[in-house]
Amino acid sequence: MKKNITIAIDGTAASGKGTLAKKLAKKFNYAYLDTGKLYRASALIIKEKDINYKNLKEIIDFLKNYNFTNYDFNNYELKSDKIGKLASLISGYKELRELLLLFQRKFANKRHPKKLGVILDGRDIGTVVLPKANIKFFVTASLPVRAERRWKELISLGQSTIKRHVEKDLRDRDERDSKRKHSPLIVSPDAVLIDTTNLDADEVFLLAKNNVEEYLRY
Ligand code: DC
Repeated sequence: MKKNITIAIDGTAASGKGTLAKKLAKKFNYAYLDTGKLYRASALIIKEKDINYKNLKEIIDFLKNYNFTNYDFNNYELKSDKIGKLASLISGYKELRELLLLFQRKFANKRHPKKLGVILDGRDIGTVVLPKANIKFFVTASLPVRAERRWKELISLGQSTIKRHVEKDLRDRDERDSKRKHSPLIVSPDAVLIDTTNLDADEVFLLAKNNVEEYLRY
């Protein structure tokens, strides 16, 4: 069995990449990092500290010595669309990306006892964070389908929202993430593309699982 496998999963917002990453991590016994949570945590921290998101110097001064290792990434507040938007806004800062890049690479390179590999998901994993990843996936779906999924998720979390607003937020976020100067969301040429528009989570998992098994076989 091949060991120390690295899998990079990138994709648009609410495309199902997180669900896929978690399922693959469980199936193959890999350590998993949701890198969007790092950007969301940074957003929540600056919001709590009352730091203006436009004040790059203050953001970096505060976060450069921040120890994310002990951060509670299960914090419910990280899931909100407001924090997602703020995360997207500050993710354009090169200096912030460099700080978070260190954490991500450390996670990918360190030994995770009993784990056989690592999976990171985000926007620039296959292109910037782990350009030499063994397997890369790029996950996307049509905007209306993603909006419907995210809307249902927010409702189930008890956050009242209007579907039309969710769709607009996703469109704006994808555009911002794709057009930013530093580490934009782009498809790595060596990534396996998965369009989840007409697939449910199990079908997406099966597709990706087959790809991983094929890689492990040779
Ligand atoms: O995947 P997510 O919705 O939790 O990500 C929130 C924002 O964080 C996303 O809109 C852009 C930013 N992000 C990023 O720039 N690079 C990553 N690797 C992950 C997230």
